[in-house]
Amino acid sequence: MSTYTPTQNLTALTAPTPFQRRVQQLSERSVSKYYQAFTDIDWQAHPIDPRDPRFELDPDHPLATTDWYRDKSSKERAVIGLDFVTASMKIGVVFENVLQRGLLQLAMTLPDRDPSFRYAYHEVIEEAQHSLMFQEFIDRSTRPSSTLSPGKRVATHFIANLGRRFPELFMLFVLGGEEPIDREQRRALKHRQTLHPLLARIMQIHVTEEARHLCFARSWLTERVSHLSNTKRWALSLAAPVLLGFMARTMLEPPRSLVTRYAIPPEVIEAAYRNNATHRASVRDALSGVTSLCDELGLIRPFTRPLWRWAI
Ligand SMILES: [Fe+2]
Ligand SMILES: [Fe+2]
Repeated sequence: MSTYTPTQNLTALTAPTPFQRRVQQLSERSVSKYYQAFTDIDWQAHPIDPRDPRFELDPDHPLATTDWYRDKSSKERAVIGLDFVTASMKIGVVFENVLQRGLLQLAMTLPDRDPSFRYAYHEVIEEAQHSLMFQEFIDRSTRPSSTLSPGKRVATHFIANLGRRFPELFMLFVLGGEEPIDREQRRALKHRQTLHPLLARIMQIHVTEEARHLCFARSWLTERVSHLSNTKRWALSLAAPVLLGFMARTMLEPPRSLVTRYAIPPEVIEAAYRNNATHRASVRDALSGVTSLCDELGLIRPFTRPLWRWAI
C-alpha cells in the first residue's frame, strides 16, 4: 500500500496566492479525512422499519405543528416522516448530480497547475459517495421516493452548464442548496438520541465533508466576484435572491409528489409553509451565511432589496 505525500509545492511554478493555498489545504483535508458509503456505514446492523417512531417528524418541523399530522396514528406519522427523509435524500441525489456535472464542466476550463482542478475532483468524488449513501438508504427503506418534474429536469442541464459558462452563479447555486441542508442536518444531530443510527451516521459524515464544500464555494466567490465584468455582477445581483430563495424552498419543503401521495390539503401546506412566520424565519436563517456573503461582495444593491424581501 502506498503512502500519500502532499505534492502541491512540487508542481507549482509560482508562489500560490492565499486563495490557492486555501484550496490546496482543502484538497489535503479531503485526503486525510474522507468517508466511503459502503465501508464507513454499518448498513446491516441497523435495519429500517418504516413504523419506527424515531422517524416521526420533529415536533418543530413545519408539518408536525399541523392538526393534519398530529391527528395521524403513531405508525402513520412514522411512515410519513420516513417518506420526508427519503424525499429529501432524493432531492440531495439530484442536487449532487447537478453539482458534480457543474464541477466537471468547471474543471475543464482550468489551466494546468490550478489547485482548483484537483479540489473540484475531490469534491466530485465526495459527492458521489454522498449520493451512494443517500440512495442506499432510500433503497433499504423500500419506500417510494420523489421524482423530478420535466421542467426541473431541463433546468438541471442549464445549471450544470453554468459551471463552465458562469461559475460564480453556479457557486451561488451550490451554496443555496448546501447551506440549508447543512443547517438542517446539524440541527437534527443535536437530537441524536432520537435519530435512527443510520440517519445519524449519514448526517455526521455529510456535515463533515460539506464544511469543505461550503468553504470552497465561498472562497471562489470571494476571490472572483470583484474581477467580474459589470454586466455579470449585475446579473449576479439580480439572480442571487431568486436563486437562493428557490433553492432553500426546494431543499426544505416537501416535493409535489409527496404532497400528492398523502393528499395533503392545500390549506395545511399554506399553514405549515406559506403562512408560517417561524418557517419563513428559518428559511432566512438557513440562508444567512450566503446572504451575508452576498452583502460583503456588494451583490445586495438598493434596487434589489425588494427582491430579497420577496424571495427569501
Ligand atoms: Fe453532499
Ligand atoms: Fe457538498
